Amino acid sequence: MADLAAFIAGLPKAELHIHIEGSLEPELMFALARRNGVDIPFASVEELRAAYDFSNLQDFLDIYYQGAAVLRTEEDFRDLALAYFDRAAADAVVHAEIFFDPQTHTDRGIPFGTVMAGLLAGMDEARERHGMSAKLILCFLRHLDEAAAFETLRQAEPWLDRIEAVGLDSSELGHPPEKFARVFAAAGERGLKRVAHAGEEGPPDYVRQALDLLHIDRLDHGNRALEDPALVERLARGEMTLTVCPLSNLKLRGIGDMADHPIDRMLEAGLRATINSDDPAYFGGYVNANYRAVAEARGLGREALATLARNSFLGAFLDEEERAAHLARLDAYVAGEKAGR
Ligand code: ADE
Ligand code: ZN
Repeated sequence: MADLAAFIAGLPKAELHIHIEGSLEPELMFALARRNGVDIPFASVEELRAAYDFSNLQDFLDIYYQGAAVLRTEEDFRDLALAYFDRAAADAVVHAEIFFDPQTHTDRGIPFGTVMAGLLAGMDEARERHGMSAKLILCFLRHLDEAAAFETLRQAEPWLDRIEAVGLDSSELGHPPEKFARVFAAAGERGLKRVAHAGEEGPPDYVRQALDLLHIDRLDHGNRALEDPALVERLARGEMTLTVCPLSNLKLRGIGDMADHPIDRMLEAGLRATINSDDPAYFGGYVNANYRAVAEARGLGREALATLARNSFLGAFLDEEERAAHLARLDAYVAGEKAGR
């Protein structure tokens, strides 16, 4: 495994499923709370980490939204983003497409523009420090209503040239994709790409709705699609990218044990699966920890790991020239590793 861990460490990759608010480490949360005079209902970093024991998605979301309350200023969002980019660069992430949840902030009176300016400043600094590229995906909170999503899209209007896509996250069960069909259509008319969390806790029908009603370009999670062979076939034939998050699946109890993770079944079914961290500060690891976890638990070798990294570039919203350059660097890395063995 030491050998495989070193291979993963240097493997160039894109990360396509990371909630920037989910990268808020307890230490930064306490520092921002102090800086902004915000109260945290935990006495210490240790006490907070001990509370990260979840039975399901909602359990996690309750604590995740509470944590995000320390984020108030442009500088806070910049510091948050940069902390993620520094950590991701250390995992050989060369391109990241990050989710942000504007409603979590605008509902607390933080202007949309404050969030955007901070995140964009972090992205600019990441390019300078690490040569890393990044894109933003604006997620609508699905537990809120359609009108609130439309209002968020309206607030995004001045920033649309800096936003790549819209997404859909938060509490899945009881909030099917169909609820957001019209706002996703409006986003599409504005030239935005579309992604959605579906099949994390929700049934295969939610994945079908995301395809048929939201016209998604990428599927976030998608695990429960495996319950429906015809749907798997459709996703494989359509070369749909799935952004799979193994440590998240374990922490939110989609699986009981990493040994039960379906990542190799997904690859064998011809699905374009990728590996991602989701909310690394809450789930116990950044992207390479997710690669290592499935490699160890499911016995993945270098070839499968390279396929997962290759899929991350195939599924990224890059232009074709950038994509080809990333794929060439990946191929060179894999060939060099083979020659060096
Ligand atoms: N928001 C942050 N992480 C999420 C997840 N894993 N599922 C749905 N919404 C989220
Ligand atoms: Zn997610």
